[in-house]
Amino acid sequence: MCGIVGVYLRQDACLPILVAGLRVLEYRGYDSVGVGVLQGPEVVVRKRAGRIEELEKALGQGDLSDASIGIGHSRWATHGAPTDDNAHPHTDVAGRVAVVHNGIIENYLEMRRELEEKGVVLSSETDTEIIAHLIAEELDCGVALDQAVHRALGRLQGYYALAVLIGGDRPQLVCARKGPPICVTATEQGAFLASDALALLPHGREIVFLEDGDVAVLAPASITVRDADGRVVERPARRIDWDAQASDKGGWPHYMLKEIHEQADVVGRCSKGRVNLARGAVELGGRGFTDHELRKIARVQFLACGTALHAALVGRYMLEGLAGIASDVDFASEFRYRQPVLSPQTLAIGVSQSGETADTLAALRLAKELGCSQLAICNSIGSSMVREADSSILIEAGPEIGVASTKAFIGMLVAVYLFAIRAGRARGVLSEKAARGRLEELHKVRPYVERLYGEDMSARVEGLARRHVKAKGFLFIGRGVNYPIALEGALKLKEISYKHAEGYPAGEMKHGPIAMIEPEMTTVVLASNDAVASKVRQNIEQVRARGGPVICVGSDAESMAVADEAVEVPEVGPWLSPLLNVIPLQLFSYFIARELGCDIDKPRNLAKSVTVE
Ligand code: M6R
Repeated sequence: MCGIVGVYLRQDACLPILVAGLRVLEYRGYDSVGVGVLQGPEVVVRKRAGRIEELEKALGQGDLSDASIGIGHSRWATHGAPTDDNAHPHTDVAGRVAVVHNGIIENYLEMRRELEEKGVVLSSETDTEIIAHLIAEELDCGVALDQAVHRALGRLQGYYALAVLIGGDRPQLVCARKGPPICVTATEQGAFLASDALALLPHGREIVFLEDGDVAVLAPASITVRDADGRVVERPARRIDWDAQASDKGGWPHYMLKEIHEQADVVGRCSKGRVNLARGAVELGGRGFTDHELRKIARVQFLACGTALHAALVGRYMLEGLAGIASDVDFASEFRYRQPVLSPQTLAIGVSQSGETADTLAALRLAKELGCSQLAICNSIGSSMVREADSSILIEAGPEIGVASTKAFIGMLVAVYLFAIRAGRARGVLSEKAARGRLEELHKVRPYVERLYGEDMSARVEGLARRHVKAKGFLFIGRGVNYPIALEGALKLKEISYKHAEGYPAGEMKHGPIAMIEPEMTTVVLASNDAVASKVRQNIEQVRARGGPVICVGSDAESMAVADEAVEVPEVGPWLSPLLNVIPLQLFSYFIARELGCDIDKPRNLAKSVTVE
C-alpha cells in the first residue's frame, strides 16, 4: 500500500535520499509516485502515474539538486484513479503546503463541499488534497505549522499517517499519525521520516514510532513530538537490528525465491533463546503470560487475514492438541463486523506479518473492548499490533519484501507451536518429557526445511510446474493440520500466477468440488503419514477414478504410490508437517508464475501490507 518518506538535511541534496527511500518501499505495491521539495522558499512538486522510473524522468537533469528538505510518496489508489493529478504530494491553492498521506479520510466529501463553498478549487479526486487546504486555512490564522497540522487534523475523521512540508521563510517538515504507522530518526546530518522502518535503516537504527495522535516536527538532529493534547512527549527509540542487506535481492532473481530459501534460518531465529530442551520448557520472554494467566484461558480466538489466517488455522490444531485449549479462527474482516460473543477468559491472538493489517488491527481492538487479553504474533517490531497488544511474540523472519508471504508463514507456525507448548506445560496438558519430545521434533525440522528448497527438490518441482502450467485449474486438498496448507497452496498460486486455484478440506471434495475433476484440472494432495493418511488416499483414488491428474506432496508412501506424480517430504512430528509440506507448494507457485512471465514480487492489484479496508 502507500509509502511515505521525508527528509530534512543540514546541507546535502535530499532528492537521492527520497528516491532511494521510495525504492525501498516499492515492495508494498503502488501505482503512482511523487516528491515535493523546497527550492529556496518554494514548494516544488513532481509526480507521475506509474513506476519510480516515470518520476525519475520527470525529475530531469538536476534542476532540484540543491533542495535539502522534501517528502515523497508511493500511492496505491483508493480515492480516484492512479493519475498524475491524483498522485501525492497535494498542495494548497497558494502552493505553500505539500502533503503526502497514507490512510483514509472518512469525512472528506463533507470537507470537500465545505472548501468548495468557500471558493477553493480542488485539483484532484483524492481525500488527501483537502488536508493541504485545511492546514493552509489554519496557517492563515497565524499559528505554527505543527499547531496548524494539529488543528486541521482535529477536523478530520479517519486514519492517517502524513508528512507535511511548508515553504516560505521558515521551512518546516512535520509528520503525524492516527492509525497507519510513521516512524522517525535523526542524526547530526539530518532528520528522516518514513511509513516503514526499512526505509530509515540506511540513516539510523534507533527508530521512534509515533503513537496515535502524535505530531512531530523534524529538523537536523532534532525531533520534537507532541501528543494528541499538544504536550511535548518523549517516545522511546527502538533499535532495529535487521541486516540492511536483508532487504536486498542479494543476487536472487526474485525476493520470493530468496525468502523461500531463508526459511531454515527463520526456524532457527524464531526458536533461538526460546527453547530450553533440558527443562522441556519454552521461554518466550517479554511481556509474556504467567502460568496462572495461561491456566485461566478458556478459549482462544485467532484473528488474521490471508496467509496469516492459514497459519492461525494450523495454530488452532496446535493449541487444541498441545495445550487443550478450545480455539476458533476468524477472518479479521468478518469478525470485526459481527457481534462476536467472547468471554473475558478468551485470549485473542492476532497473527500478522506486518502488524498493520487494518482488519486484523480493528478485530484485535474489538476483542480488547470485549475484555479479552490479546497476543500479537508478528514480524514487525514497532508495529501497531505489537505496541497495542498485551503481549507479543516476534517471529524473527526479517524483512519480507515479496508480496507473496513465505518465510513469515513459517515463522508464524514456529511461534504458535512454541506458544502451544508453553501453554500446554503451564496447564499440565504436556509433561516435561512430552514437551521435550515436541521441542526435539522442532529441532530436527530445520535441516529438512533446508533440504526442501535444495537443488534436487527445486528441479523436481520446476519440472512439475512445467508439466502442469497449462492446466485449466488447480484443486488443493488436505486434511487435519494440512487442510490449511491446501488453502495456502491455492492462495500462493492464485496471487502470483493468476491461475484459478481452490483449497479445500479433502473430506469436503465429494460435497461439490469433485464435479470439477477432469483431465485438465490438476489436484494437489497433501498426504502426510499421519492419522488421516488412509482417508486422504481414498480422496486420491476418487480423483484418479475421474481422470484427474494428482500430484501428491507429503510423507505417506502409499499415497505417493497411487498418485500420478509425487514430491516426497520427510516425516516429522504430527504438528510440524505443515512447515515442510508448504515449501514445495511455494516453489510450485513460483515456477508456474515464472513460466507464465508474471511479475512475481509485485503481483497485479496486490499490496504487501493492507492498511485500509
Ligand atoms: O501483514 P499480514 O500478515 O497481516 O498480511 C495479511 C495478508 O494480507 C497477507 O498474508 C496476504 O494474504 C499475502 N499476500 C499472502 O501471500
